[in-house]
Amino acid sequence: MTDSSAIVVEGLRKHYGATKALDGIDLQVAEGTVQGLLGPNGAGKTTVVRILTTLLRADSGTARVLGFDVVRDAQKLRGAIGVTGQYAAVDEKLTGAENLEMFGRLYRLSGRTARARAAELLERFELADAGGRLTQTYSGGMRRRLDLAASLIMRPRVLFLDEPSTGLDPRSRAQVWQVIEDLVREGTTVLLTTQYLEEADQLAHKITVVDLGKVIAEGTADQLKERVGGARLEVIIARGGDLSAAGGVLARFANGEVNTDGDRRSISAPVAAGAGVLPDLVRALDEVSVALDDVAVHRPTLDDVFLALTGRPAEADPKPDPEADHRADPSGPADGLDPEASGSGGPGPETGPGERELVAG
Ligand SMILES: Nc1ncnc2c1ncn2[C@@H]1O[C@H](COP(=O)(O)OP(=O)(O)OP(=O)(O)O)[C@@H](O)[C@H]1O
Ligand SMILES: [Mg+2]
Repeated sequence: MTDSSAIVVEGLRKHYGATKALDGIDLQVAEGTVQGLLGPNGAGKTTVVRILTTLLRADSGTARVLGFDVVRDAQKLRGAIGVTGQYAAVDEKLTGAENLEMFGRLYRLSGRTARARAAELLERFELADAGGRLTQTYSGGMRRRLDLAASLIMRPRVLFLDEPSTGLDPRSRAQVWQVIEDLVREGTTVLLTTQYLEEADQLAHKITVVDLGKVIAEGTADQLKERVGGARLEVIIARGGDLSAAGGVLARFANGEVNTDGDRRSISAPVAAGAGVLPDLVRALDEVSVALDDVAVHRPTLDDVFLALTGRPAEADPKPDPEADHRADPSGPADGLDPEASGSGGPGPETGPGERELVAG
């Protein structure tokens, strides 16, 4: 533990019956930085956030935020943090402005101060025009932004964001990212959970990868990608093509293990150079008379990180976003530089009523 740590977590455990939601998590987040907590469904991300925001008690281990113990100093801690839950917690029957004012009043701001703060936040989140409308008319992206705005009412020094952009379209996601970047520039410490390496890549100074309640890797986005091997090349061999000959060719370009999936006639391998090797690869396959149905360059996704770290795929989204892949016509080179990560699946049915109200109370 150092003085400049905003969050210090040691040996956190939480079991639900036989399920080890957290199985000994350690974490240190330096003040003024963004810490990404990356992991697939059920990894334990929300459980960490709930413990750190005093909404849930761990079975064992310790956690301090801004020096406050999450159990002993819970009351003081609540005044210093903001939290945006995984599912937007706005009151549909109120307008955007009324929602924000209500949160201000919950935090015991005067009516006037709450109104002023609400107006300021609506402006900041580009919701000023919509501020007078009932939030049931808001799009998912607008709700997310309002939710984020509500967590900022008290100008928290540490902000917890649980999957802030899941279910948002690319434009809304970019807006949310921008807001987070601005907050960090102003000195806020952020702990951000996400299922998308791309999001952690964009925002986080440091990323902790969790799986089954354990930390399985830590580092910067670049360090994690290095472990994956840059990008992943995949070729789909035409029916009747020689898979093993193709595998041999791919091995020459790979900087890691070559995987063959006979059913899909797919061969894939990590490559350091990304899309740049495509023309050479296609030529080399042509030389051994292997015809292709498809060539793709996948930028590293959480799935790739998982495969590299654990040898098994992450049980990520059931429906991966097709934009996450970069399909290329075998006849021409592709670039794999689309800045958009995958993102599908919106707020689910497990919406908890007003987590923030608990924090406020
Ligand atoms: N109240 C609960 N009762 C029983 N099991 C729970 C409860 N809350 C969480 N779990 C289990 O604990 C594990 C971790 O859950 P958690 O919600 O922290 O995961 P997560 O990483 O946030 O997943 P997601 O990406 O789906 O939000 C899962 O196996 C989950 O089913
Ligand atoms: Mg969660």
